[in-house]
Amino acid sequence: MSAFAAVDVIRVKRDGGVLSDAQIDWVVDAYTRGLVADEQMSALAMAILLRGMTAPEIARWTAAMIASGERLDLSPVSRPTVDKHSTGGVGDKITLPLTPLVAACGGAVPQLSGRGLGHTGGTLDKLESIPGWRAALSNDEFITQLRDVGAVICAAGEGLAPADRKLYALRDVTGTVEAIPLIASSIMSKKIAEGTGALVLDVKVGSGAFMKNVDDARELARTMVELGGAHGVKTVALLTDMSTPLGLTIGNAVEVTESVEVLAGGGPADVVELTLALAREMLDAAGLPDADPEAALRDGRAMDAWRRMIRAQGGDPDAPMPTAPEVEVVRAETDGFVDSIDAYAMGVAAWRLGAGRARKEDPVSIPAGVVLHKRPGDPVRAGDPLYELRAEHAGRLPAALAEAARAVTVAPAAGERAPLVIERIG
Ligand code: URA
Repeated sequence: MSAFAAVDVIRVKRDGGVLSDAQIDWVVDAYTRGLVADEQMSALAMAILLRGMTAPEIARWTAAMIASGERLDLSPVSRPTVDKHSTGGVGDKITLPLTPLVAACGGAVPQLSGRGLGHTGGTLDKLESIPGWRAALSNDEFITQLRDVGAVICAAGEGLAPADRKLYALRDVTGTVEAIPLIASSIMSKKIAEGTGALVLDVKVGSGAFMKNVDDARELARTMVELGGAHGVKTVALLTDMSTPLGLTIGNAVEVTESVEVLAGGGPADVVELTLALAREMLDAAGLPDADPEAALRDGRAMDAWRRMIRAQGGDPDAPMPTAPEVEVVRAETDGFVDSIDAYAMGVAAWRLGAGRARKEDPVSIPAGVVLHKRPGDPVRAGDPLYELRAEHAGRLPAALAEAARAVTVAPAAGERAPLVIERIG
């Protein structure tokens, strides 16, 4: 006989009560094993979204999710391990230059990444633009590469927090993704199970992010920082702006190209700024405060680490990126200054071009995406190119053009620019 009835656990949360440790352990385990039905877990997730959870409940829920699968042992890796997680945004390719950069400075970065869904891109989809590159590694391959190269970006194995895999898919279709306790436990259970010693969180705020306002982002960041600490993972968070896309590219191949520019010592200023800010936090958290990531970008060490990391997973770092046959350049109609480029609308435009997926089984287009010619604050003259849309098929362009047109505003004067790094929590 089962220890609890799912309906009783649901009622406790529905009525604003606090779940006991035993109830949490039971419901997470029973759901993972198929003993609690999807409709019951959906009701519980909705009750959690509406009623919230106490800090001890979130900690226990996270521990139960970790316990649903394996926890990797990274002790064969002699360098300090440190990872980064971004809550997701538009044009957010930072993992690509950051992982080899931190490795070049003496850290080991065990980056288990995901695929994109909806308007946000996925790191694995981007890297698969590189011919030959392989996302799936066994645990042994993962640890060997981490030990030898110091940098791995690959897909999380099935054995890691299986409760989250199942619950996240359910939340996605039941309007319960946005519950802060569930987001925090979902992210942190995977990162803690991955075995990293330290973690830096990039919690995005703005139209292109999960969290649309700073108060919610701060609450999510604090919750995750506490969860990391409670599990012995030194965790800090940066709240960063996601009202504007990061850099000049949104898509798959185009974001790889931009990342390589950063590794070559160039690239857009905001991408470089955030890469360096996160690298410094990671190196500090890993106990390497004297490392100089700026020098590693300048002198080619980060690029060397990138090439080793890509080759180790079968990729050819010298292969040309595929290009899109259909390109539409959109020009400014008036003189002025670019006032805003809305991250959400540009993310949707890239998605409509084929760079993203609507269902997790869908393929993504490698060359499709948006390339910005201007950033907010830049002066423009009528006729100057503002951005270009790239697609494999012309039929993709009209819907994307409509979204992109909504995203960009040109004003007579330059407005104030908000800082990229809003706050540090740690
Ligand atoms: N990313 C995750 O891994 N989980 C969430 O719940 C939300 C974003």
